[in-house]
Amino acid sequence: MKAKPFAALLLAVSAAATIPTSWAQSPPGASNAERYIPQLANIMTAAQLQHLKLWSAGTAHNWPLAAYELRQLRESLVEAALLYRGIPVSNVTTLASSISVMTEAIDRKDPERFAKEFGVLTKGCNTCHQSMDRAFIVLRTPAEQPFSNQVFQSKSKP
Ligand code: HEC
Repeated sequence: MKAKPFAALLLAVSAAATIPTSWAQSPPGASNAERYIPQLANIMTAAQLQHLKLWSAGTAHNWPLAAYELRQLRESLVEAALLYRGIPVSNVTTLASSISVMTEAIDRKDPERFAKEFGVLTKGCNTCHQSMDRAFIVLRTPAEQPFSNQVFQSKSKP
């Protein structure tokens, strides 16, 4: 089976509204060539933070924040796929479907499913790294929450 484009797969699971891209301001007179193209490693570093905050929010049962972080993570991956066409799409089908299962777990406020799917999602990150000669970049479920300047507990817990 030929893999569908990564971005299409990820966009297909897009449910909730995001901040419109029209809010982004280009410097006056900036041409496309002058627009800033983030390095893949920087997009991935953002994905790493979103992956971590997603875990912190989900384990705190802060579902609106978890949904937000999952959307940001998905957008980082879409951005990576759109800007870096050379990255493989063959092994990311799992990742896109995992994001969709994760969205469902969050919608249903289901901590067990969330935790289980987080492992699948993380495996998807590592599978791509391995296939791209980056097997030394290994993600795992966070052991602790280092963002002491952000509150992850929601005020009204379910
Ligand atoms: C489709 C392929 C692919 C997927 C999926 C992917 N990555 Fe990456 N990632 C890469 C590549 C390629 C690099 C190395 C970039 C470079 O060498 O400039 C990388 C690098 C990284 C780095 C190292 C950044 C740094 O410079 O320190 C982190 C962290 C990372 N990815 C996190 C993630 C997380 C978290 C996920 C899953 C949510 C993920 N990646 C999914 C391809 C992928």
